[in-house]
Parts: sequence; C-alpha cells; structure tokens
Amino acid sequence: MSQMSEQEPVSEPMKSMKPGENKEEPKVSEVEEFPLPDWIPQWAREAPKIVVRAPGPKSKEIIKIDRDYVSYAYDRCFTFTIEKAAGTAVMDADGNVLLDFSSGIAVQNAGWTHYKVTKAIQEQSAKLIHSMANDAYFDKEAHFAKLLAEISPGKALQGTFFGNSGAEAVEAAFKLSRYHTKRGEHLAFFGSYHGRVGAGLALTSKLKLRYSYGPLAPGIIFTPFAYCYRCAFKQTYPECGLYCVDYIENQVLTMGGTTGPIASIFVEPIQGEGGYVVPPKEYLGRLRKLADAQGALLVFDEVQTGFARTGKMFACEHFNTVPDILVMGKALGGGTPLGAIIAKRDIMRKWRPGSHSSTFGGNAITMAAGLAHVNAIIEENLADRAAKLGDYAIKLLKEMQTRREIIGDVRGKGLMIGVELVKNQYTKEPQEATNIQGKCWRAGLMTITSGFYGNVFRIAPPLCISKAQLEKGFEIFEQALKDEEEFMKIGTSAPPG
Ligand SMILES: Cc1ncc(COP(=O)(O)O)c(C=O)c1O
Repeated sequence: MSQMSEQEPVSEPMKSMKPGENKEEPKVSEVEEFPLPDWIPQWAREAPKIVVRAPGPKSKEIIKIDRDYVSYAYDRCFTFTIEKAAGTAVMDADGNVLLDFSSGIAVQNAGWTHYKVTKAIQEQSAKLIHSMANDAYFDKEAHFAKLLAEISPGKALQGTFFGNSGAEAVEAAFKLSRYHTKRGEHLAFFGSYHGRVGAGLALTSKLKLRYSYGPLAPGIIFTPFAYCYRCAFKQTYPECGLYCVDYIENQVLTMGGTTGPIASIFVEPIQGEGGYVVPPKEYLGRLRKLADAQGALLVFDEVQTGFARTGKMFACEHFNTVPDILVMGKALGGGTPLGAIIAKRDIMRKWRPGSHSSTFGGNAITMAAGLAHVNAIIEENLADRAAKLGDYAIKLLKEMQTRREIIGDVRGKGLMIGVELVKNQYTKEPQEATNIQGKCWRAGLMTITSGFYGNVFRIAPPLCISKAQLEKGFEIFEQALKDEEEFMKIGTSAPPG
C-alpha cells in the first residue's frame, strides 16, 4: 500500500524509490509449478490461441441477432460469442481460445466447467430439477447448509437462507438486519457494490449504476472506505490511526448523520467493483467494535471475495473478524445462479416461517452444482494454491510496476489482485483502461476492469491456473501496457484493439 496520499508532493525518501520498489519486502520463495489439473482438456491447455480476428463470422452472426433482440442494458466489453470453457480457458464460436483472468467475474473459482460440477448437474437433472424447497425438505439443501456452517469463518455461523443471486442475498441480509434490530438505517461505503436491485442497488455507491433510479431504499448512509491509495481524508496509513473509522464514530454516528442507532453495517472485506481495494488489517475489527457499540449487525458481503478467491475460504479470515451475517454468491453456485446468507444462529433463528422466501431458493440444480463446486474447492486445496500463486503474482506485478510507469498501485490477497493504472505515478491521475483491455483481448488474454474510474485491472483467474499461465498472461498484459505508454508519450491514445 502506498504511503503517499493523492497529489502529495514527493518527499525526499520516496524520490529515490519508485512505487512498487519496496526494498524491505520479503522475497517470495520459489513458487511451485502448480501444473494445470489433469481434468482440463487439451484444447484448454493451449490457451491462448487466436485463429481468426474476433468477432469471427460465427460470432458476428449471433451478435447480429442479439443486437436486434436482447436488451442493450448489458455493458459488454468483449465482441465475441462464448461457446465453451474449461479450466482457465474460454473458446469463442470461431475457435479462438482465450486465457482467462476473470473467472467470469469470480464465479468459476475451481475452473470453468469443472467436471465434478458438470457431473453433479447431469445426475441431479435426471432425477429432479425443481425442489420446491419452499414447501418441502430437500437433501442437498440440508447438506449444503451444513457444509457452509462448517466452513464459515471461525465456524461461528449456522443457518443459511438460499436465494438466486448475490443481490437477492444482499436483500435477505438487509431484511434480516431490520427484522432483528427493528431499526431502519444502515451504513455503507463509497466504492461499494452490492447488486442492481432493491437494497443491493441502494447500498451501491456508484452514480452511474444509480442514475435515474431514485428514490432508492431509504435509510442508507455512505461513508468513505479505507481506500488508502486515494484516501478521502488525504491521510497516510498507518499514521492516520484509521481516521476513516474515527470519522464514522465521531461524526456520522455522533453528530446526527443518522436518526439513532443503526440496524447494520454493510461492507465488502475487500472492495470488488470499487477496484479490488484491500483495507488495512485492523479495519474490519474496528468496524466490528463500532457495530457492537451500536447494537447493530455487521454484514460482510463476500459475494466476490468468497470461496478461496483471496487465499482463504472467506476474505474476512485475513482480518480475524467474524460478521453477524455473511453474504455469498458468484462462486457459491459453481456457475449456476445462486446466492445465500449465513448468520449467527440466534440471529437467523429470529426469522419465523414466512418471514422471507423464494420460489427457487434451494433449487435442486443449484444445490447440486454449488455443493460440487464448494467441495472441489476444499478437496483441491484451492485456498492454499490461491495464496501461493497470489503472492507470486503480486511479486511479478510489483516488479512490473518498476518498469511500467502506468502502474500506480498493485494490491490484493490471493488471486484477487488489483492493478491500478495512472497517467503519472506521483499525481495518480487515473488512466482509462479500455484500450489496454482491448489489446489484451486481441492477444488472447481476457481481463476485466473495475474501480470508480474504470482504471483497475482485476487479476482474478480461476484458482486452478498454472504458474506458467500466470506468467504468460502477465507477458501479454505488460506488452499492452507498454504499447499504451508509448501512445501516451506521443500524446495520443491507442485505438481499441
Ligand atoms: C460484492 C458483491 N455483492 C453483490 C453482488 C451482486 O451479485 P449478483 O450480480 O449475483 O446479483 C456482486 C456482483 O458483482 C458483488 O460483487
């Protein structure tokens, strides 16, 4: 984490050291090779392989129909038609094979189309598709809820409610926190993302996503997140003593920012859409104390950070802090639409029959797929793999930062790494990433961006990625950064692709 605040003049000791060049950083020992698992087919091992300039003829045909009949609301960044995927590779309709650094936005943690997930769906669908879990009991729902309790942070949570998406799970957490506290105000953070509907949208801070949908659910108070690289208070960690939490305590909650004690604090342990922002290690513990002092519930949204992505089963384990409610989604379903919350037993028990429900909650297919995916993550020890490969990836990216002035910050945990681009490492003026993303894609690397300014690359490959594939992906990434730097120097911008 940078020690410099935005626009701060360069102090003498920092001048001799380029950002990313931390001489005191421990050396990451030689990382194992981490070969691709055996189940990944040959075509996917050969990624990337570009056979035709995308969109090829087959992709074009489908895109033409799509543009006539599918809503334009989706903000698609890749002009190809996805045909199949396996492990860390995605194939388009024309046979191009891309190396994937996105996991379909942190969904395919054990690898795309994991054979155990496929088998579980096939077997389950031959027996039962709709479990009517609203009205009857279903074995896989009970077993899945038991497994989630066993792997919950500190084994402290027990009692799961299953829904159909991350946003729906956020809605459940929102309702449960109101039901439990009988209060109606909630704290959320700038840079947050909790979904596109209902409470999830109301808790999301990005203006582009909220624009023209007001009034949203009332009672949500936003406050700055611990985004140390761009501190809202122009402070420097650790000297700041986490002033951003003092501000909540001494200003927001004390000086009338609310109408009284709040129901809950909604926070992503590591902000996802906000730009893969990792707060200081004591941050979540401070929020825990703050919630306890208010008699409020602490809700961790681990939709993007969960299921070994950060090198631990849940990101909050890095911070030794247990929430009252944990929100899950994305990887939970192994690629099927599934979201859930798990809460402390006494809190979940507050809900009486009929307090909340969903037709497809506990659906037979999503339960089978999710159970198989989460079990694969456990059995294949993917948290450990993500931790080791993540350390190695951060080392490579920090080295890259010393060569590439366009990289302002590298941060992350496990294989959830953000690379923030800037026009200048000292002024930190954001550098838009679309051209670079296009160049990576043309060269066979699928990457996605995030952050308020759209200038943060997410390095979030499936956790089964090999060391060699990581290195190959970084080669492509650095070449695209280098090309963009050259265009920036001659005062123009690279055309997409
Ligand atoms: C942290 C977080 N919460 C909630 C959501 C919403 O999930 P979904 O898109 O499944 O509704 C997302 C999606 O990106 C997310 O990253």
